[in-house]
Amino acid sequence: MRARLDLEPDAVASAARRVMSRCDELARVSAVSGAIERVYLSPEHARVNRLAAEWMRELGMTTRQDAAGNQLGRLDVAGAPDARALVIGSHLDTVPDAGRYDGVAGVLIALEVVRLLRRPTEDGGWCSPFPFALEVIAFSDEEGTRFGKALLGSSAVGGQWDDDWWALEDADGMTLREAFRDFGLDPGRIGEAARRPADLVGYLEAHIEQGPELDRRGEPLAVVSSIASARRFQLLVEGEARHAGGTPYDMRRDALLGASEAALAIERICRAEHHIVGTVGQLEAFPGAVNIIPGEARLSLDLRGEFDGERDRVWNAISRELDAVMGRRRLAWGAREVHSAPAVFCAPLLQDVIREGIVATVDAGPPATIFSRAGHDAMAIGAVTDVGMLFLRNPDGISHHPDEAVSSEDVRLGIRALAESVAHLAAEPV
Ligand code: GLV
Ligand code: MN
Ligand code: MN
Repeated sequence: MRARLDLEPDAVASAARRVMSRCDELARVSAVSGAIERVYLSPEHARVNRLAAEWMRELGMTTRQDAAGNQLGRLDVAGAPDARALVIGSHLDTVPDAGRYDGVAGVLIALEVVRLLRRPTEDGGWCSPFPFALEVIAFSDEEGTRFGKALLGSSAVGGQWDDDWWALEDADGMTLREAFRDFGLDPGRIGEAARRPADLVGYLEAHIEQGPELDRRGEPLAVVSSIASARRFQLLVEGEARHAGGTPYDMRRDALLGASEAALAIERICRAEHHIVGTVGQLEAFPGAVNIIPGEARLSLDLRGEFDGERDRVWNAISRELDAVMGRRRLAWGAREVHSAPAVFCAPLLQDVIREGIVATVDAGPPATIFSRAGHDAMAIGAVTDVGMLFLRNPDGISHHPDEAVSSEDVRLGIRALAESVAHLAAEPV
């Protein structure tokens, strides 16, 4: 068995404090005062990339922003600039009214792992102490807040870019293509963000759990076994707008009532399934006046499951039920799929090294291995390399909310466990 890393306890404790204070610093970079919101290709995105690049350079890393607006830092193997890289990362974009740790904590933990592991070079610089380079990627769009399609940044790195996405529009009608140009990126060069499998050793990501499992177990860290498959749809329900006073019930074709019944049917169908969750997070009625029966309603559906087949079977059941609901109410309905990501399974070797990293850090029995219902950049970069994830306890399981939390002590354990995992990986013949 490999000896534990000889890490200075004070250095790990101060690394955790730095992660916490930098999470606070990044939380101040927001488009909305009094709340946290940083979306893809926004001025806030540019600002956090600049900050991350500064922190990467401070560690002796060479930095670049790639063709999809992801911020990268790299610490080479001395004398071997073409060595394969182990990538560690997460994302800096947020949902609306976000917490301060989703994604951000993982990027900052990655930087502290590099700080603890890096080795000085003879010329006063820093290098990777392993046979592989260490790269940190701060992904630019995991949430999909602005364009509805999640994982844009990591899909570009995973070589999965789809040219249909250029026409996606934000709430102001700006297309993704226009937003790229506005940000100073060239859409024609998007392919340059893609990484080659031959250049990568693997990808590791630390993330808060975004669920209550670790909190309930009273454990700080877990190994992730797989990441849920997801599909997102925009649903449109069409009825007829009419006078709210003059229209008797037998003449009404109320689109909002159809949408409401759809939301309840989605809950009923998903609840009956193991590991399937469906969420209607957006619901709008048009024309949106107190005295007009809604003639049109738009709602979103976020559907997740452990396995793609189950998720798709449930979507088919939902579609059949919506046909019935809308038929009874004499409404028309349609669905536009805006995001689809297959389930991703963490590589057994990377699960093992993360498990070893936790065991070397936390004095307890074997750590929990849990399935992630939340989506992560690891899903998209999984197209070009093996992925592994470490979860940190998220008190009360609350995330995508300003009360989202992680303790400094758990961050200290997470940094140490991830550093140990990297060292374990270096001892493996990969
Ligand atoms: C991202 O956090 C997602 O799972 O939607
Ligand atoms: Mn999130
Ligand atoms: Mn996240």
